Amino acid sequence: MIRDLVRKSVLDIKPYEPGKPIEELKRELNISNIVKMASNENPLGPSKKAVKEMIRAIYNVNRYPDGNCYYLKEELAKSLNLSMDNLLIGNGSNEVIELVLRTFVGKDDEVVMSEPSFLIYDIAAKISESKAIKVPLKDFKTDLEKIRDAINSKTKVVFIDNPNNPTGTSVGEAEVERFLEKLPDNVIVVFDEAYNEFVERDDFPDTLRYIGRKNIIVARTFSKAHGLSGLRIGYAIAESEIIQYMNRVRQPFNVNMIAQVGAAASLRDTEHVDNSRIIVSEGKRFLYENLDNMRLDYVKSDTNFILIDVQKNGRMVFEQMLKEGVIVRDMNAYSLDNYIRVTVGTMAENKKFLKALEKVLNR
Ligand SMILES: Cc1ncc(COP(=O)(O)O)c(C=O)c1O
Repeated sequence: MIRDLVRKSVLDIKPYEPGKPIEELKRELNISNIVKMASNENPLGPSKKAVKEMIRAIYNVNRYPDGNCYYLKEELAKSLNLSMDNLLIGNGSNEVIELVLRTFVGKDDEVVMSEPSFLIYDIAAKISESKAIKVPLKDFKTDLEKIRDAINSKTKVVFIDNPNNPTGTSVGEAEVERFLEKLPDNVIVVFDEAYNEFVERDDFPDTLRYIGRKNIIVARTFSKAHGLSGLRIGYAIAESEIIQYMNRVRQPFNVNMIAQVGAAASLRDTEHVDNSRIIVSEGKRFLYENLDNMRLDYVKSDTNFILIDVQKNGRMVFEQMLKEGVIVRDMNAYSLDNYIRVTVGTMAENKKFLKALEKVLNR
């Protein structure tokens, strides 16, 4: 039996559930207009300037990409005021997460994370045959004190998604400072900042300052504010020694040529990221106001998505919303059964979402 051949750690993985392609759903449900508000993508699309440069680059795909991502790193290093040696580019920040574990974590080591938090931490921990230690959120927020308490001599890596997915909450500078002060030197902390561009609080920690002081890896992505999810490109920022070891375990050509060109061009197009920020900020305010009117509870978010208490089974709400042409995410995988998570869209998409939700919940 094939099952008998599979590693035990792989048998334990609950497969990530990908959504169906929109075209397929349109055909199945016989509706022409579907909006996808499920994966925290950017409704504005990619930067037009980046698209132009990517089209130009496509004629060179007979060549392998630059395995060192030289030009992109140069651009990033300039924008972050760091050295290129502090950067590793990944096939999405998902790959960065995997590379951290592949580099530092082995069988029976412990990896600490919040519960719920980004699902990939747990999957990656299982692949590495380490033990995932899950620390419940407190009032939907990362509980750094309890995370600190969960660290012991077996702990190798701590994942902190700041802001957290799926709640959208963040932890501030004072809390992070306190946490790092007590952090042992033999532990690596990954601050996963996939949504950092959307955070509006003034005291969001500048984690780049901690690099060198503690064993910190900051993971960021081009998938969200830059609108480049389909390219699969993200990056790690860390002390150069950490980066060197992570480079040993990555594939030599892990980031494709078009992604490198698109990401570098997108970095130069700061106006596009500013517009993404504005649309999310305005969209959130609009959605909050309308959810208040519908007397629905939700979690105030520092990201481009909102976690909403729909007061009944979220999976059912998801399925009914689908028939109205709106794809949201139910939270069963996160054990938040009465919740859905919606990505902030364009104003037209937000209105369509609210109309569908009103109908489905009989408000
Ligand atoms: C907290 C968090 N980290 C990382 C990612 C993955 O981003 P990427 O597309 O760069 O792999 C996501 C995507 O949803 C996320 O929510």
